[in-house]
Amino acid sequence: MGEPGKTKFQINLRRYLRENDENRDLTRLICEIAEASKYIVNSIRTGDLGVAGTSNLYGEEQLALDVLSDRILRKRLAHSGVVANIVSEETNDIITVSEECEGKYSVAYDPLDGSSLVDVNLAVGTIVSIYEGGNLFLPGRKQVAALYILYGPRTTMVLSTGNGVHEFSMNQLMEYTLTRENMRMDEKASIYAPGGQRNLYSKGTESFVSDLERHGAKLRYSGGFVPDINQILLKGKGVFLYPHLKGHPNGKLRLLYELNPMAFLIEQAGGAASTGRIPILDLQPEGIDDRAPVFIGCKEDVARAETMIAELG
Ligand code: F6P
Ligand code: MN
Repeated sequence: MGEPGKTKFQINLRRYLRENDENRDLTRLICEIAEASKYIVNSIRTGDLGVAGTSNLYGEEQLALDVLSDRILRKRLAHSGVVANIVSEETNDIITVSEECEGKYSVAYDPLDGSSLVDVNLAVGTIVSIYEGGNLFLPGRKQVAALYILYGPRTTMVLSTGNGVHEFSMNQLMEYTLTRENMRMDEKASIYAPGGQRNLYSKGTESFVSDLERHGAKLRYSGGFVPDINQILLKGKGVFLYPHLKGHPNGKLRLLYELNPMAFLIEQAGGAASTGRIPILDLQPEGIDDRAPVFIGCKEDVARAETMIAELG
């Protein structure tokens, strides 16, 4: 790596993947997603905040941003030539792009996670999970790549193809260039992001959170899964939970579109992700809208959550 005069911070996404010997078709797929995100970021910045079914000043159909983001991504993926099956949180149906799965990839994605936060001008993101072949019902450990794109004050992509986790930032030319390589998590959290209503927590989860607070962990919760995980990953010390709640034993977050890709990224950085009982990446999906409770972040903390849940539920 590194021509004279070029620091590694100017390496763009395609070149990084090529220099790290990634499969050509996987590189193509990731670069198509990067292309799609340029249009998504533009829609978020300038698009109408209308809801689907309404029209704009010019009488054109207005799409809610999550529906629009879904279409943008789907179109790119479908025309990439390297995709077999697609499933999106927005459509909730498997779309077959190619009957021939050999040598192709299948993709599960959440096109605009936390889309209601756009209305209040908070950060949102796209989350993507990639498998080889045509099967989307595999445990998350079988993912060959996972990534998220965070639309915050800056747009960044955090990616792993199974060789560490790296951050790429969108520059003024809307190209992603490498900004952090091989990010690592500490063993112990100092910030925590607790999802769900506290009065619905189980005894085990309640003790876990009280314990974090007793040890001085600071609350950092935005209500957006992508920015909340990004903060924990980049600071290298934190834990996010959206636990099992009274009346909601599987919590809220979706296995295929949200939990598997984030668990893959956090494990690649040396962290852990658990339902409170077993690793997220070992769950066998049963349906496209499976949900699971999650405790994700620094290893020691996730292990302590598991111990407390085993003892107290
Ligand atoms: O898609 C689900 C989501 O919007 C995530 O981004 C976020 O972590 C979670 O829901 C927030 O849920 P709640 O509003 O219950 O805290
Ligand atoms: Mn979501």
